Amino acid sequence: MASEAAATRRLPRFSRTERLLHWTHASAFFALLATGLILYLPSLSTVIAHRQIVKNVHLYVAAAWAIAVIAILVVGDRRRLAADWREIESIDRDDRRWLRGRRAPQGRFNAGQKINTLLTVAFALLFALSGFFLWLGERDHRFIFDGTGTVHDILTFLSVGLLVGHLYLALIHPSTRHALRGITTGEVDESWARKHHAKWVEAENRPPLR
Ligand code: HEM
Ligand code: HEM
Repeated sequence: MASEAAATRRLPRFSRTERLLHWTHASAFFALLATGLILYLPSLSTVIAHRQIVKNVHLYVAAAWAIAVIAILVVGDRRRLAADWREIESIDRDDRRWLRGRRAPQGRFNAGQKINTLLTVAFALLFALSGFFLWLGERDHRFIFDGTGTVHDILTFLSVGLLVGHLYLALIHPSTRHALRGITTGEVDESWARKHHAKWVEAENRPPLR
């Protein structure tokens, strides 16, 4: 009876701010990827629409993405996001063991997720920087630098590689796809969380210090 209750008990995993940030970033990313690939393949950009229209959409989505992400960081639950960031940037002994393929209890994010987040943030900043110089270089030729377009292209391919792995774990892999509940409804089953994020569940259940 008691174990059945534990199996169905739900734990809050992602707050509204976290989910909003995730889905805002993901939607903008898909739109930028689709328009970026059309720009990358000249044949597609003439078949699907005038290249200039696709390029404008790419730029407007980029601007909307930057404004939306900054707005969420400013008006969302900043304490919660700061706590996430502190956890994500600290790779501890268990994380290092986990990365070497050993069994090791994991916190709210496992070591793979920490690396995924750090790369996602780094790529987003580099996309914005290289994209900004591509845009500026067309307006003022002093800002045309060798390799800016190549950086933007390489980031695209690296991100797609990362995304394929992410989508496989989130939508297909039987043992991890329960996580989809967390990023959509905000809650996950405690029994699942115990198996994948034991240190997090332990910390959640610990009585507060007096
Ligand atoms: C703030 C974010 C971004 C800005 C400001 C930006 C800006 C630009 C600009 C100005 C171009 C040049 C268009 C042209 O060829 O005339 C471009 C091309 C491109 N962008 Fe972005 N971009 C951003 C994010 C992204 C993201 C997230 C992706 C992919 C997921 C992406 C993929 C591409 C690709 C594949 C091209 C075509 C490059 C080529 O023709 O070789 N961009 N972007
Ligand atoms: C349909 C598309 C997507 C689905 C179904 C999805 C699913 C998920 C799920 C289930 C989680 C939570 C995992 C957990 O419980 O800890 C998550 C987290 C995350 N997602 Fe996505 N995601 C999508 C698109 C994206 C995109 C496009 C990006 C970035 C370009 C992204 C970046 C992240 C990051 C950085 C995290 C936190 C770390 C991690 O779990 O790896 N996601 N996503």
